[in-house]
Amino acid sequence: MKFITALSALAGAAAVNAQMTEDYLDTRTGIKFQTFTHERTGVSFGISLPENPTGTEFIGQLTAPITTGWAGVSFNGGMVNNLLMTAWVHNNEFKHALRISDSYTSAVVYTTPGPVMTPLFTEGAINATHWSFTFLCTNCNEWEIQDGEYTNIVDLASDFGVMGMGVSESELPRSPADAGSSLNKHSSSTQYGVLLGNARSADFEELKMAGLNGAAAPVPSAPSSAVPAANKRRSRR
Ligand code: HEM
Repeated sequence: MKFITALSALAGAAAVNAQMTEDYLDTRTGIKFQTFTHERTGVSFGISLPENPTGTEFIGQLTAPITTGWAGVSFNGGMVNNLLMTAWVHNNEFKHALRISDSYTSAVVYTTPGPVMTPLFTEGAINATHWSFTFLCTNCNEWEIQDGEYTNIVDLASDFGVMGMGVSESELPRSPADAGSSLNKHSSSTQYGVLLGNARSADFEELKMAGLNGAAAPVPSAPSSAVPAANKRRSRR
């Protein structure tokens, strides 16, 4: 589903499995996300946006069971020709990279200047059961296709988007110490709808700066919710 549009995805999602993000307040960082939880793998990805999105930055949070080999996200739904991010834990440290792929065969590190992924709130982000990788993504809404043919754009100012997830449930990357390691194919993948309009938060700037400065996250004023409820509907494998 390379050129899927938000509208057809919405219609398709409604007809097929209607996987969508939900509100999630992460009590560790204080950040309010629109989060999708993949039922089969237990991996979730949340996105948080500024109150008035400039269209160029967001905070993402990828959370996975500790047994996960690697997990990744497509910022535009499909795998091919879209900006991807991957993360896993090696020796108690996050290994993360932006990637791209021009086919369904592999995903190489994205090297064109522009998109930058900066880890936030890494302290205490790995425990005995899960890891949770939080990052600021700057200019991750626009990227060049490897052969330079055209640029894809995700409109972060719109109310709806489509993202995708690939998860290797147990097999590690081939060289886990190397963030750019070649990967085995995911054991599970899916696309889902993102309620971007509900991802906007007045606290975005404050929390972003707290994360960048390595400061402890402010205590959220609203009551915290539990772990995001797993989406009950079927996921594509
Ligand atoms: C060696 C690496 C990889 C291989 C061989 C691979 C292969 C494939 C194939 C064959 C499909 C079609 C559906 C299926 O047969 O399962 C697919 C779908 C998908 N892949 Fe990958 N993949 C790789 C890495 C990645 C990575 C790193 C990501 C994300 C970070 C990713 C995200 C997705 C998503 C979201 C889909 C579903 C949407 C679509 O069909 O485009 N894949 N992949």
